[in-house]
Amino acid sequence: MSAQTGKSGLTSRPEWKALCQHFESIKNVQLRDAFAEDSDRASKFSVEAVDLFLDYSKNRINSETMPLLFDLAKSAKLKERTEAMFTGEKINTTENRAVLHTALRAPKDAVIEFEGQNVVPDVHEVLDKMTAFCERVISGEWTGYTGQPIRNVINIGIGGSDLGPVMAYEALKHYSNRDLTFRFVSNVDGTDFAEATIDLDPAETLVIVASKTFTTQETMTNAMSARKWLVDQLGAETAVAKHFVAVSTSAERVQEFGIDTENMFGFWDWVGGRYSMDAAIGLSTMLAIGPDRFRQMLDGFHAMDVHFRETPLEENLPVILAMLNIWYTNFFDAQTVAVLPYDQYLKRFPAYLQQLTMESNGKSVTLAGDSIDYETSPVFWGEPGTNGQHSFYQLIHQGTHLIPCDFIAFGRSLNPVGDHHDKLMANVFAQTEALAFGKTKEQVEAEGTSSELVPHRVFSGNRPSNTLYAEILTPRILGSLIALYEHSVFVQGVVYDIDSFDQWGVELGKVLAKKIVPELEASDSPDLKHDSSTNQLIQRYRKSQGR
Ligand code: F6P
Repeated sequence: MSAQTGKSGLTSRPEWKALCQHFESIKNVQLRDAFAEDSDRASKFSVEAVDLFLDYSKNRINSETMPLLFDLAKSAKLKERTEAMFTGEKINTTENRAVLHTALRAPKDAVIEFEGQNVVPDVHEVLDKMTAFCERVISGEWTGYTGQPIRNVINIGIGGSDLGPVMAYEALKHYSNRDLTFRFVSNVDGTDFAEATIDLDPAETLVIVASKTFTTQETMTNAMSARKWLVDQLGAETAVAKHFVAVSTSAERVQEFGIDTENMFGFWDWVGGRYSMDAAIGLSTMLAIGPDRFRQMLDGFHAMDVHFRETPLEENLPVILAMLNIWYTNFFDAQTVAVLPYDQYLKRFPAYLQQLTMESNGKSVTLAGDSIDYETSPVFWGEPGTNGQHSFYQLIHQGTHLIPCDFIAFGRSLNPVGDHHDKLMANVFAQTEALAFGKTKEQVEAEGTSSELVPHRVFSGNRPSNTLYAEILTPRILGSLIALYEHSVFVQGVVYDIDSFDQWGVELGKVLAKKIVPELEASDSPDLKHDSSTNQLIQRYRKSQGR
């Protein structure tokens, strides 16, 4: 593949140039004035679908902006690329793979063909196998080696085999079976494993080893330690069969590890790791919330899939979110997007989105391998409100960076305590208002503020945000919300002409770490051939170990 600058052609397209021109006319327009001039602005820039209401009126756009952005999407052949994804074309070209996570939530009677075969029956076969297994564990029928029922579940996985499961467990905790304790071990740092197991009895613990490839260093190391922990305490190798199950695409490696493939839940090459929480990787989620609610979550995903595939761009939630990201990242030089869920249950949602967005679109060459002359994924980050307000919001309100924000809010709390929810919601609405409209010098002066303090107390405003609003957090809404971001990532990838479904950028570090492990562990002084800095650090570590 060649690597030449700017060959994607995106920035030389008339649609891009039209946006550049439009940007010049809008860059100084104040949201304050835009709202004052148009009393219908809020309803003009709001859309509702799949029980999600999106108010995107507090963005730096006018009636010309969105049509121009949609023209750009059309120029990238968004419709055709979307069909290619949904119909199983190998759009992940660098790995020669189809991208069919939408098949994971397709109804039983759907037909989705991959290489001439309908994959939907396979998907439902695994779902049924997961269901039967979860029912046995939940009912206490599945017992451990000593005959005790399962009370603890440890999911061992990393990246997409951890972030989705842990996020969904936290997000849907309200619906979870509180008789089961869930732990998630991902880091190769032994502390993660030690703390997760410190108070658990292996006799009543089920370990899910979740790994698409079943080769990932962190997961395999943790799985081996879990196995040792279990076998040491239960005193028999044969105990493994009653306490370990696997989720993977590789039956061979699962078997090699010593897990009976009867207790393996499979998925397929055409499911990317970061798109797999609704595949068997969601086994821990199903154990926590039960099979019926898991299927409600899948229905929510599917409803958003249908919305995305069938709705015109103007009303299409993922497309609107995606094009706004492109607008800020490439025209306003915004470097990041803050995702701010005003729901404690969504505390891991920003971390989940970090892999989804940045592992997907953190790329700098096109599908054809050419270097690009525009920005791709912004950095995604965030914390639940209101905690973030007392931490980093200062910078969002008064700092020098422009940080578009996605606020996520719910009409009703799952835990109605006193007037907490009114206060929580008052804070979301206040934040979006303060960011958009700020507080002028004149307003600050009129409050009698001493002149030297005035500049410190002025809020420039004009800081953009989206508000996503749903009635209440349910498994179905969570599914829709995740699919919304999945498709937004896809749309951005299409416009940027990049492969959103590979992750070559994680490989080099993995390879080097594999090489360094024996150098750290060698009893004789190894012949280190790294740079002087890396050599020095390795030697210092060896000294710490007395080697
Ligand atoms: O970090 C790279 C990556 O391949 C992710 O894409 C993936 O989610 C994670 O590692 C875990 O991979 P696996 O499920 O194969 O263990």
